[in-house]
Amino acid sequence: MDDLKSKYLGLIAEATDENSLEELRVQALGKKGEISLQMRSLGQMTPEERQTAGPALNALKDEINSGLIAKKAALADAALDERLRTEWLDVTLPARMRPKGTIHPISQVTDEVTAIFADMGFSVAEGPQIESDWYNFDALNIPGHHPARAEMDTFYTHRAAGDNRPPHVLRTHTSPVQIRALEANGAPIRIICPGRVYRADYDQTHTPMFHQVEGLAIDTDISMANLKWCLEEFVKAFFEVDNVELRFRASHFPFTEPSAEVDIRCSWEGGVLKVGEGDDWLEILGSGMVHPKVLQAAGVDPSIYQGFAFGVGIDRIAMLKYGIPDLRAFFDSDLRWLRHYGFRSLDVPTLDSGLSA
Ligand code: PHE
Repeated sequence: MDDLKSKYLGLIAEATDENSLEELRVQALGKKGEISLQMRSLGQMTPEERQTAGPALNALKDEINSGLIAKKAALADAALDERLRTEWLDVTLPARMRPKGTIHPISQVTDEVTAIFADMGFSVAEGPQIESDWYNFDALNIPGHHPARAEMDTFYTHRAAGDNRPPHVLRTHTSPVQIRALEANGAPIRIICPGRVYRADYDQTHTPMFHQVEGLAIDTDISMANLKWCLEEFVKAFFEVDNVELRFRASHFPFTEPSAEVDIRCSWEGGVLKVGEGDDWLEILGSGMVHPKVLQAAGVDPSIYQGFAFGVGIDRIAMLKYGIPDLRAFFDSDLRWLRHYGFRSLDVPTLDSGLSA
């Protein structure tokens, strides 16, 4: 009996899973189990033998039983521990990887400008980058012979041989969107049109593709005073300063009358631009009252409606605001440059949370 006891308790201790425990139980205590057979042999014993063997066998049976139960519980505990160890999950880990890319300064500044003008009730309009010469020139009061056409270093598309229609152009400015938006929506209207424009030019401050944002406000009672206020608000918000001084210099654009180029008072102390104070003036945009012929071309009655328009170089004001010296670097796709001048992708510019924060 001692042999049986050490045999089974040893086997139970060595068992590594529930199945082998069950096999051991059958082997010892099942109908034909070793202990059960011993129990059956009690009948052939003398009453004296039975008196000692009976309780001893019962005790052995109990001991093996509780050994099995204890081992079963220990195995379940170990299995649970193993699951807790391997299926462990740190719920405090960040749910998403940090974004690796950055927002390009052009996109950033476009978003900033959009936020500022949205606050003044302007919506965003867009137009095609390949334009007909009607939208890019004629409708804007720039007829075929006009010197402005040559001045803009226009890219023309090819026409098939024998096709005598005027070629399309890569739009040289965002002003054609004025015409398209007025045609589509009529007056009154308040829009800005950011987008790519093209001119054949290349040096530190010129690239063949660059970006402009056009502004257009047409209604029945709009004057240069509204233009001035609007631009002042824009410049203050964009450069994030409390005061600005604007200088309107008489100029000429075929599509506005009168026309003005707008400078802002600034200083360049130690090469760093400070907007709002100083003795320098910085030209930042072209503007004016929309020419009656332009309204007419867009199907708007100039005896009822009038308004202002302006055009700003997005790249230019991005260079000024963020101290970027060479325009060409904007379009080199140099990762080091993008990491240095790029903006965090989750910081959306808004007027109340800060434009460039
Ligand atoms: N379209 C002009 C340019 O590209 C800018 C401008 C727009 C001027 C609107 C006046 C009014 O130079």
